[in-house]
Amino acid sequence: MNKIIEAINEAVGEAQRRAADAASVADLEQIRIDYLGRNGLFPELSRQMGSVPPEERKDTGRAFNAGREAIQKAMDDADKKLNAGKSKEFTGIDVTLPGRAPRTGHRHPISQLADECVAIFSRLGFTAMEGPELEDIYHNFDALNTPADHPSRDMQDTFYLTDGRILRSQTSPVQIRVMESHEPPVRIAAPGRVFRRDTPDATHGMNFHQIEGLYIDRNVSLADLKSVLQYFAREMFGKDVKIRLRPHFFPFTEPSVEYDFSCVVCGGKGCNVCKNSGWIEIAGAGMVDPNVLKNVGYDPEVWSGYAFGLGIERLAMLRNHIPDLRLLYDNDVRFLQQF
Ligand code: DAH
Repeated sequence: MNKIIEAINEAVGEAQRRAADAASVADLEQIRIDYLGRNGLFPELSRQMGSVPPEERKDTGRAFNAGREAIQKAMDDADKKLNAGKSKEFTGIDVTLPGRAPRTGHRHPISQLADECVAIFSRLGFTAMEGPELEDIYHNFDALNTPADHPSRDMQDTFYLTDGRILRSQTSPVQIRVMESHEPPVRIAAPGRVFRRDTPDATHGMNFHQIEGLYIDRNVSLADLKSVLQYFAREMFGKDVKIRLRPHFFPFTEPSVEYDFSCVVCGGKGCNVCKNSGWIEIAGAGMVDPNVLKNVGYDPEVWSGYAFGLGIERLAMLRNHIPDLRLLYDNDVRFLQQF
């Protein structure tokens, strides 16, 4: 046995030991570099092959090839062992899995509907306006020609604060605030929250939403009011909806009307939603009372106009067939996410 074969045998034993102990792929790579790499042991031995006597060359060559293969095999085995362990341990991220979209919220159905109402009226030239929810008695009642003994001013109906202000019971005070701060003509639509001391049930809440309309100009007539309400009804419920006006009383309009839509559920034939009448009461309206115009400094001989109010929850219930308006405020996502 010559020196080269001795060196090969020693190197194989050493490399096999190191491969068996290798703790990482990096350890294996270092073994490859040390023995088989370009500046490693085996290329060096191969360069020394020229000094081997001819009769020993065959055996030396064989030992050389066998040694190289043995080291390669030791490394391959160790590599397999390392990877097998790894795939068992590894329970982490599968980057090929498609991601899960985070759930996002959306606007409340009442807010959506209020926006839709404003959009319809804005197509008719109405400008969106807002007023305060904390109102004074003057704007909510007196300026709207509502006398001090009117039942709606009762403590049982309106929320009074200890400082004398109230939670507004209607959006009508926005009419007053807009007229006080703008010269006529005015044409506004004012959505907002209102408050009443009602006992909550399927069709009443202590706070709900209205949208108020007001148009003041020269020579405004009840026919103008009717055409706007008719346009709104069609945009909201489709082209077959009819409207009708019935005489009524509100302190701030003269004449006053209540207006109905033909039942959007049965189309006017009669059902339990319209209580077999074929009509659904929507809200109040009328020609602005001259006293209201005087209260804001408009000359009733020059200016006239109409006003109307709509209950947004009522529209939502009709549009989406919601049987109980409390569903809108229970904050059950299973209900809300339908909209
Ligand atoms: N403010 C009234 C209410 O809450 C609704 C209403 C009636 C508004 C007639 C108006 C109107 O603008 O002209 O019941």
